[in-house]
Amino acid sequence: MKITIIGSGYVGLTTGVCLSHLGHHVVCVDNDVEKIRLLKKGISPIYEPGLEELLKQGMEKGTLSFTDSIEEGTKHGLAIFICVGTPPREDGGADLSSIELVATRIAETMDEYKLIIEKSTVPVQTGLKLKTTIELNNKRGIEFDVASNPEFLREGSAIKDFLYPDRIVIGVENERAEKLMREIYEKIDAPFIVTNIQSAEIIKHASNSFLAMKISYINAVSMVCEKAGADVKEVALGMGLDHRIGKEFLNAGIGFGGFCFPKDLKAFIKISEDLGYHMNLLKEVLKINQEIREYFINKVRDLLWNIKGKKIAILGLSFKPNTDDIREAPSIYIIKHLLKEDAYISVYDPAAMKKMKRIFPDIDYKENPYDTLVDANALLILTEWEEFRNLDLERVKNLMKTPIIVDGRNIFEPEEMERLGFIYRGIGRA
Ligand code: UDX
Repeated sequence: MKITIIGSGYVGLTTGVCLSHLGHHVVCVDNDVEKIRLLKKGISPIYEPGLEELLKQGMEKGTLSFTDSIEEGTKHGLAIFICVGTPPREDGGADLSSIELVATRIAETMDEYKLIIEKSTVPVQTGLKLKTTIELNNKRGIEFDVASNPEFLREGSAIKDFLYPDRIVIGVENERAEKLMREIYEKIDAPFIVTNIQSAEIIKHASNSFLAMKISYINAVSMVCEKAGADVKEVALGMGLDHRIGKEFLNAGIGFGGFCFPKDLKAFIKISEDLGYHMNLLKEVLKINQEIREYFINKVRDLLWNIKGKKIAILGLSFKPNTDDIREAPSIYIIKHLLKEDAYISVYDPAAMKKMKRIFPDIDYKENPYDTLVDANALLILTEWEEFRNLDLERVKNLMKTPIIVDGRNIFEPEEMERLGFIYRGIGRA
């Protein structure tokens, strides 16, 4: 099928590249001329495993191309995916002006039937607004349908998540749109959930919020575990083996970050409020996510007594492993706090240091984990990179001034660490 992707960011580019891999003829559009220039050379502007290989393959096969012209894109695609950004506004709601602009341009340009699909993360009822906007600007009365097709991609495994999803969700208003959507995904073997447009939009909100809720839930439980003499890792395993609960997303730690969860939660709270429901449950999820960071800093304070003047080594800056993304990363909050209390900070992260330098130009960035540890009073682990699990712990201890480790991701076992001579604190582990 001829398919156009408007917005070649994280979601759009992954979608375009994967759809071309599935055999469709895809044109990706973006108004960022520099980005299009890079893409035309086969260079991915974002770091995502496997993306650049598929990008190059698609270009070589001739099933994938790029343009900065919406007009050209609109002419090409029978199906047009809108994947433009929907950044958060001050009030927590999503800024949908880019979607409106794109919808208007499509309506003005299209000269034959189009299926227009929203894939950006949007508040429920955006599909209806999208339809109204197209109707208003569709002066020549060209036929079209609107569909919602939320994405569930995770950074670091976006290609796999796209090609082997747990489910495909589509919201449509008629059989014509459903048939086309089925055709687009016919090569993917996954349950296909067909709903109306609003239900598809809510599935996205509700899924992300539920996952964030699971994390805050286990983090809340972890604070009780610690006080009760229980171990949250054992508790999570015991809970997770009940398949009604499930093992995933029950890792206690310093909370969730990233571009999606915090933003999507706030957007769901806002849209629920606009529709007349308070969603206090999700406000609590955000509150716990904040509390757990403060709880972590208090642990550091307890162990070091005074933070002022102490040398603190930090391993891990990105919001999760295998990405250089630091948006809403707990590390930013923690570093800010420690600096306020006049700590001397030395850090290492395998991928995210370049981005962090823009926020904290004056802390000490090191080329490897061990260099951060020389004469350190404490080591804080903030991201569970595989590399940190394999540290030479004897060497770590010998380098440090005092062998204190506060592990925000529970990558080590308390008894083992104590046996090795560390003063070790994880999250939710007595
Ligand atoms: C998330 C959703 O998983 C994805 O479906 C959606 O499309 C976009 O948002 P992503 O933000 O890439 O994906 O990361 P994810 O792997 O879900 O992790 C989010 C955050 O939760 C990370 O900060 C991670 O450290 C934290 N987390 C995750 C935990 O603290 N504990 C867990 O058990 C799982």
